[in-house]
Amino acid sequence: MGLKDETTTRILSGRNELNLLLIDDDLNLCKVLAYQLEKNGFNVSTARNGKEGISLFSKKPFDIVITDIQMPDISGIDVLRKIRNDNEKVIIIIITAYGSVENAIEACKLGADDYLTKPFGQEQLLFVIEKAVQIQQLQDENALLKQEVVGKYKFDNMVANSAKMQEVLKLTTKVALSNAAVLITGESGTGKELIARAIHYNSPRKEKPLITVNCPSIPENLLESELFGHVKGAFTGAIKDRKGQFEQADGGSIFLDEIGDLRNDLQAKLLRVLQEKEFQAVGGSNTIKVDVRIIAATNRNLEQMIKEKNFREDLYYRLNVVPIRIAPLRDRKEDIPFLVDFFINKYGEGKKFKISSEAIKNLQNYEWPGNVRELENIVERILALATNSEITIANIPDHVSGRFYEPSVTTINIPEGGIALDTIEKMAIKEILQRTGGNRSKTARMLQIPRHVLLYRLKKYGLE
Ligand SMILES: Nc1ncnc2c1ncn2[C@@H]1O[C@H](COP(=O)(O)OP(=O)(O)OP(=O)(O)O)[C@@H](O)[C@H]1O
Ligand SMILES: [Mg+2]
Repeated sequence: MGLKDETTTRILSGRNELNLLLIDDDLNLCKVLAYQLEKNGFNVSTARNGKEGISLFSKKPFDIVITDIQMPDISGIDVLRKIRNDNEKVIIIIITAYGSVENAIEACKLGADDYLTKPFGQEQLLFVIEKAVQIQQLQDENALLKQEVVGKYKFDNMVANSAKMQEVLKLTTKVALSNAAVLITGESGTGKELIARAIHYNSPRKEKPLITVNCPSIPENLLESELFGHVKGAFTGAIKDRKGQFEQADGGSIFLDEIGDLRNDLQAKLLRVLQEKEFQAVGGSNTIKVDVRIIAATNRNLEQMIKEKNFREDLYYRLNVVPIRIAPLRDRKEDIPFLVDFFINKYGEGKKFKISSEAIKNLQNYEWPGNVRELENIVERILALATNSEITIANIPDHVSGRFYEPSVTTINIPEGGIALDTIEKMAIKEILQRTGGNRSKTARMLQIPRHVLLYRLKKYGLE
């Protein structure tokens, strides 16, 4: 008894009571089965022949139909045909006489989910139903998941209002349809991974895997085996053959994230894969062929790395067939209001937040060194801490709003006789240069002046 009850709880968990239609001309069997099924929590309707069954089915929604095959008026096979034709999803289980396996196979070809051969016990009955229900649930979940994943990277889930981002989207849409290698560059947090996913999930390869390889996070000694796989015994710990990520991505795409951090000797191996579309597993002698689309990303300056002999030029040209450059957020501040809206929706948990235009302006004045990711984190934090639905400058963290960073005159010791403005300027430049470790672009940004203006001042004050 215990076992049966458990089975049913599992079948019914998370679902409403299931409606089951039982069609059988054998009155006794019908009664027994109906009793067993009702006892196990199903909502059972019975029909004594095929006609009655079809008529009942058309009047009421059923989750499961169990029908005998041999019946006097319409055969179970015809019932199956009719019901399957009207309803793709309902679970249909047929009952066949002992020794008529052909009938059962025929029925499954016509769309029955499973069959029961007479005589069968309650255990078997419940087992067959449970299996069919589980398979259906899995299929539903899979369809949902796929929809979710594909939907997630549709472009309408990405903010791109600035002309710069519109350009990126146009290129992304176009390149998604091709097989060309793409190199996405941009500072940290600009959305490189988002674009990589959009390319894959808008491409004809979208049903096949997108495999992400985070180049710097894999231990150096394992990277080769991660990418290309290994055969059993290739090295200590290789206790069985293992498929590498290139093989796993076959038919789909591989996303090589932080490609600028790929070790030198592996750059050569990767180049070979890109040229020949084939490779060997670590310790293996067979050549493996794959069909993989390459998407790479980096926040490093590969051209500079090539000059310094830290990145292979030939690999660079292979990867950089279509370059996509994502601008830093500070260079497309028009996106900020839309991004803020987007993240308020994402993290607002259904609450209607309103942000003042003054607060938006304030956010647009910040430099966002961590780009969109930093903005996303800040919005999430603002919403989590907000005590009401009106967001103002007061809700913005100080280091972003700059409210308490008004320079205080008292920290500058102005002598009685006054001070040259140039001296203050020189002091400020020196101080910020020190803070940025001598990084001129950053210093210029922090001083809110163009880089060439800074270079001029450095010369003027002898700070070069
Ligand atoms: N245009 C955009 N619209 C909406 N969300 C965005 C956009 N760009 C980036 N994001 C979000 O910002 C976060 C960072 O994006 P992503 O991980 O793609 O950046 P990245 O360039 O790969 O950063 P890193 O170089 O640090 O790996 C993610 O949560 C992403 O969803
Ligand atoms: Mg990334």
